[in-house]
Amino acid sequence: MTFSANEPSPINERELRSAFGTFLTGITVVTMIDGDGNPRGITANSFTSVSLDPPLLLVCVGNRSFSFPAFCDTQSFAVNLLHEGQADVSSLFASKSSDKFQSVPFGPGITGAPILADCLTWFDCTVHDRVMAGDHLILIGRVQAFGTTPSAPLGFCRGRYTAAREPLAAGRQTEHGVQVGYLVEADDGILLQSDGTGGWRLPGGRSRKAESALSLGDGGLLPLRPDDTFLYSVFDIPGQDAGCLVYRARLAPEASAAGLPPDVRVFALDALPFEAIPTREARAMLRRYVRERQADRFGIYIDSGDGGRLAMVDGRASRWSHVVTENA
Ligand SMILES: Cc1cc2nc3c(=O)[nH]c(=O)nc-3n(C[C@H](O)[C@H](O)[C@H](O)COP(=O)(O)O)c2cc1C
Repeated sequence: MTFSANEPSPINERELRSAFGTFLTGITVVTMIDGDGNPRGITANSFTSVSLDPPLLLVCVGNRSFSFPAFCDTQSFAVNLLHEGQADVSSLFASKSSDKFQSVPFGPGITGAPILADCLTWFDCTVHDRVMAGDHLILIGRVQAFGTTPSAPLGFCRGRYTAAREPLAAGRQTEHGVQVGYLVEADDGILLQSDGTGGWRLPGGRSRKAESALSLGDGGLLPLRPDDTFLYSVFDIPGQDAGCLVYRARLAPEASAAGLPPDVRVFALDALPFEAIPTREARAMLRRYVRERQADRFGIYIDSGDGGRLAMVDGRASRWSHVVTENA
């Protein structure tokens, strides 16, 4: 890297574009209805959140885009963040096609702006302000409504699409690089914790050892039956560094559903929200759990190169100290 503070050299546009391109971003499709009533959209990675109060965001629209005049006039627009399976949608909206919406289902938001039926997150906005800056219009939107899903985002860096791994929630990763989850049984169901973006996951502990209470990363506490926690599943999730260690535990009888932390809910076994559980591995584990709970016979699973191994556990776990005493 070379630079000199005292001798500014002319900025080379191509090099500047490459330098800007080293900033890892997500990808959005910014949409609106033009003056003729037609939906329009462009791919844009210049999205930035601006303010929570009032709720503001911005995108920058280049003056060479066909849609530029329409963005200068519109009173509303939507920003649709793309998920990892939508590189083709990004390419379509980055093209000059006159019919970008033919193959992409959408519906009107409350402002009338087109919301893509399939996307990671959407923001429906009225125009708060417009600022011309060089060859781009900074379009500042006031968020009127938004929605989000648990999908993984589509990333972009150095001119290429990239997978953006979701950060782990606080408390879900120990210093050993292992995610610890608890399959906590309660009444006729199990407990799941909201991930805050519409998805559900197993409650995760700060510590691998939960005895009479599971301390959640966000300060919540789940009281557990002491001595009733046992290993259930050990597996990796492709693309994640940390392995997963899952325990089966039981909610303490004195705990009531009303006293649970606000982001934790009891789901009946026949109403588990599989579509909102982000990883295939976690869904497979929960399906096994449902089968085993119906048969009241549980196994311990460990994944392996040949598809994984399962050992059924007969009887209940005994305390190690009792076993040692009996065999002494
Ligand atoms: C990854 C990516 C990011 C882009 N980001 C922006 C952006 O932030 N602002 C912009 O005006 N154009 C951006 N573009 C280019 C527009 O998508 C492109 O110019 C498009 O053709 C505009 O559509 P239109 O000419 O039909 O209006 C981006 C393109 C790609 C592939």
